[in-house]
Amino acid sequence: MSAPVSLRGVSQAFAGSRGGRLALDGVDLEVAAGEFVCVVGPSGCGKSTMLDLLAGHTRPARGDVSVAGAGVRGPGPDRVMVFQEHALFPWLSVRDNVAFGLKNAGVPLEERDATVATWLRKVGLADAADLHPHQLSGGMRQRAALARAFAMRPQVLLMDEPFSALDAPSRDRLHVELQELWAETGVTIVFVTHNVREAVALGDRVIVLSSGPGRIIGDVPVTLHRPRVVESERVVALSATVRRLLDAADQLGISAPREGGDSYVTI
Ligand SMILES: Nc1ncnc2c1ncn2[C@@H]1O[C@H](COP(=O)(O)OP(=O)(O)O)[C@@H](O)[C@H]1O
Ligand SMILES: [Mg+2]
Repeated sequence: MSAPVSLRGVSQAFAGSRGGRLALDGVDLEVAAGEFVCVVGPSGCGKSTMLDLLAGHTRPARGDVSVAGAGVRGPGPDRVMVFQEHALFPWLSVRDNVAFGLKNAGVPLEERDATVATWLRKVGLADAADLHPHQLSGGMRQRAALARAFAMRPQVLLMDEPFSALDAPSRDRLHVELQELWAETGVTIVFVTHNVREAVALGDRVIVLSSGPGRIIGDVPVTLHRPRVVESERVVALSATVRRLLDAADQLGISAPREGGDSYVTI
């Protein structure tokens, strides 16, 4: 189950002292159903803003955002977000956290239990089902968050720097596991990160955003075989190319906001 994602001429602005300040500027992006796309760019360039638009938490100032060919008008169960902070409910067990969305969606108890057990097993948390989030390591919490997301059988998984707070060994393991879960489910993934190597290790393509307001300055296909790890020589080499693109954009001042210039819009 997967869906294509499309952003056409998308700009987003937030209220500032001089009217609206652009966070994203003229973003055109087509993601095919089942594709794993990483979006990389410096902090504050509009990555979370882009995911919020796809999730339907916000509407664009300009342009169109669509999923499965239909305009995004609000949040929906076809799109599930995974955050840097796991966002698990502290008062619920791991099992009940993973079951939460399914229960809300009205999935009958028996089917719910089976789905939860399946996904806890897939993320290696079968033995941790009765624990609460504070009893888990950071890596285990993100596994629980992944199980909760995949259990909903979303068409599109929106991932906002989900591994940024983890220690390197946990992050490396989750990189491999996420690639396996993606291959198994065929879900479309839009994964944002400020970590270039992570983007290259995970993506079929790496979309490179300039510093804010975010504009697409690169679309780099990655054809290395999977599963990939951040330390692999080829990932490191391709990452250097992406980093050069980011540095060149900075030097050229591609996104430097200009007072009274086109980085300010009326909203
Ligand atoms: N709700 C908001 N209100 C005002 N400004 C915002 C809001 N959300 C994001 N911004 C601004 O938009 C820009 C992009 O933010 P964000 O998408 O969070 O960047 P990233 O995720 O790439 O670090 C930043 O300058 C941020 O301060
Ligand atoms: Mg962010």
